[in-house]
Amino acid sequence: MTPGTPDGRYGGGTAIRIAAMADLHCSKTNQGSLQPIFAAANETADVLLLCGDLTDYGYAEEARNLVAELAPVKIPIIAVLGNHDYESGNADEVKKILTDARVRVLDGDAVEVLGVGFAGVKGFGGGFGRRTIEPWGEDATKAFVHEAVSEALKLESALARLRMPQRIAVLHYSPIEATVEGEPREIFPFLGSSRLEEPLNRYRVAAAFHGHAHRGAPEGRTSAGIPVYNVALPLLRRTLSEQLPLKIVEVSVPEPVGISESAPSRRRDDPQ
Ligand SMILES: [Fe+2]
Ligand SMILES: [Fe+2]
Repeated sequence: MTPGTPDGRYGGGTAIRIAAMADLHCSKTNQGSLQPIFAAANETADVLLLCGDLTDYGYAEEARNLVAELAPVKIPIIAVLGNHDYESGNADEVKKILTDARVRVLDGDAVEVLGVGFAGVKGFGGGFGRRTIEPWGEDATKAFVHEAVSEALKLESALARLRMPQRIAVLHYSPIEATVEGEPREIFPFLGSSRLEEPLNRYRVAAAFHGHAHRGAPEGRTSAGIPVYNVALPLLRRTLSEQLPLKIVEVSVPEPVGISESAPSRRRDDPQ
């Protein structure tokens, strides 16, 4: 099918509510502080997105604390890891702890929930627009750019696997400059990459969510007009609500659809 166009399986109409947040930085001492936010997400949304930096240093104990915090959440949870989740070299263990707690951790993967497709990658830096870092000179520079290109390719192939008209991108790093505005310009190249923007435009996603830029801006658009939401927790606390830092976005679905086998999920009013 043509990206972004109905393939004939969908008609009629409904909507799902997406709750999103990032940069939880769950620590070894976290004890219940996130539970009220997660409980609110469970009450108001159909799916919860966690856009990276789920833990502070990537320790297994931090991941287990996060799982405890997520106890009130019965709706499907989709996550990507962030740079902090890699800090201790335990990213695989962090991912397993979350996956065992039925969090869908995406790393170049795609999943369908309630008729909407979600593609997720961590992403990487590299800068934006004409100032994007190019693979030239030292091997270290080429390796840095290679990582950004690799993440963009993973995002593209994940989006290509989603066959429904409504697709959402879940990222940690920003795909556009607009949502990192507010951060020091000197660190822009470490906050995201325009290479992540190209797949969003090509596959005409309904929206993209990211974190990482704690002092960035809450919303921007890609060059094709696709909304991009920075849902970093510190930013949501500052711009949305100190008590309830949770971004809610409603996405229309042309038809109420069943759930693919790869995405065990349910609406919040279904039997638990
Ligand atoms: Fe962060
Ligand atoms: Fe981060």
